Parts: sequence; C-alpha cells; structure tokens
Amino acid sequence: MQKRDFLKILVPATAVGALLSNRVFGKILIHNSKNQNTQKTNKKSMKIVVLTGSPRKNGNSAYLAEQFIKGAEESGHNVFRFDAAFQKVEGCTACNHCGMDGDCVLKDDFETVRPHIVAADIVVFVSPMYYFGLSAQIKTVIDRFYAINEQIKGKRKKTAFLMTYANATKEDAQPMLLHYRTMANYLGWEDAGTVIASGVWTAGAIRNTNYGEKAYQLGKNI
Ligand SMILES: Cc1cc2nc3c(=O)[nH]c(=O)nc-3n(C[C@H](O)[C@H](O)[C@H](O)COP(=O)(O)O)c2cc1C
Repeated sequence: MQKRDFLKILVPATAVGALLSNRVFGKILIHNSKNQNTQKTNKKSMKIVVLTGSPRKNGNSAYLAEQFIKGAEESGHNVFRFDAAFQKVEGCTACNHCGMDGDCVLKDDFETVRPHIVAADIVVFVSPMYYFGLSAQIKTVIDRFYAINEQIKGKRKKTAFLMTYANATKEDAQPMLLHYRTMANYLGWEDAGTVIASGVWTAGAIRNTNYGEKAYQLGKNI
C-alpha cells in the first residue's frame, strides 16, 4: 500500500455529523425481538477478539467486556480476550519494516494477538475514557495494526465498541465515538454496536447500572 492511501480516509466535515448520528455506521442496541432470536439460531459460530484497555482488573470496562463475552459465548461464539494493560506491547516505532503487511521488528505480546485479529470475524474494542480519548494501552495495540493493515483492511469483519467514563455529558463521548467510527470506516469493518457507559467513576460503579445488560445483549445477538 502507498502511504498516501493511508491518509485518504480523512472524513469530510459533512460526513462527521452522519458518523456521529449513527446514520452511517451506528446500530442502536438491543435486540430482544423474536425475529432476532430466530435469526440467531441460524448464525454460525464466529471468532471474536475482545481488546480491553483498562489497567483496573475489576473496573467498569472490564465488567462490560465480561458481560459481552458471556453473551457471545452463550451464543456459541469463540472469544479471544486480550487485556492490553496486562501485556507487554510497545508503541509502533514507524520504522516501516513491515511495509504495513509483514513482520514487526518489535517482538512482544502483540505477536500473541496478531493472528487472532487477522482471523477474527469481529473485533471488539473496550476502553475507559482517558482525557477524552482511548486509553494509551489499547491505542498502543491499535497502532500495531499497522503491520497487518493489508491483512485486515477491507476484509469482511464486524466491530463493536464499549466505553466507560465518569462524566455524564453526552458530548464528551463524541471524540472516542468518532475515532471508533472513522477507524471502522477506514478498515471497512461493519459496526455491530456500541455501549457508551457514562457516569461511572469508581471501579465497579457500573454494576449499579443497566450497561452490563446492554453489553451482554450485544454479545448475545452479535
Ligand atoms: C488517567 C485518567 C483519565 C480520565 N479521563 C477522564 C475523562 O476525560 N473524562 C471522564 O469522564 N472520565 C475520565 N476518567 C475516569 C474514567 O474514564 C472512569 O473512571 C472509567 O469508568 C474507568 O474505567 P475502568 O474502571 O474500566 O478503568 C479518567 C480516569 C483516569 C484514570
């Protein structure tokens, strides 16, 4: 791939509103209709990678990931979970040794998840909000997609996004959502749904909300 292709994904200003308003990518949760249950029985088992980004083992996004995985496994899917904060993954050095499609000079735990991402039917991103963006831990893993860009871009995959944050202001979630949707658009992956959990600050606060149920239903019906 030419480097200029990588840059071509800049979203025109007019498309940003559509991205944010779910008209292009978003699918509103959730999925309890009889029709969907009927459809589900015909679904094949899918390979799902869940990438998490929080260093809090019993935190709010970890709970969303657990609930999503519970639903997905109950529906017969295979889940590979990669907790970025507990793995050793270095930042891309932009050496371009990989040429966006090859070996990476960094030999670390990304090697573990790499083949799973390439083979996945669905890649799920789970992150707390850190200063209005993804956590550094999950972003570091995403940047390493560079070495497999050609193997994952334009391939038939779905993606989903689960996020948590302390504030209750809806607008605060927009930068992360736009990032997720722009990335999904660039990679050509179909958005399968989002769970945006606001107002959860302390670890475990999410257990007193219905966001866990939303994540479970998303996994169950994906
Ligand atoms: C470094 C750091 C930055 C944060 N930045 C924000 C922020 O910009 N907006 C917000 O509402 N909450 C912010 N928070 C709060 C977390 O998003 C919130 O506690 C979230 O539920 C943490 O998820 P976790 O339990 O999965 O780690 C921040 C927390 C930390 C530790």
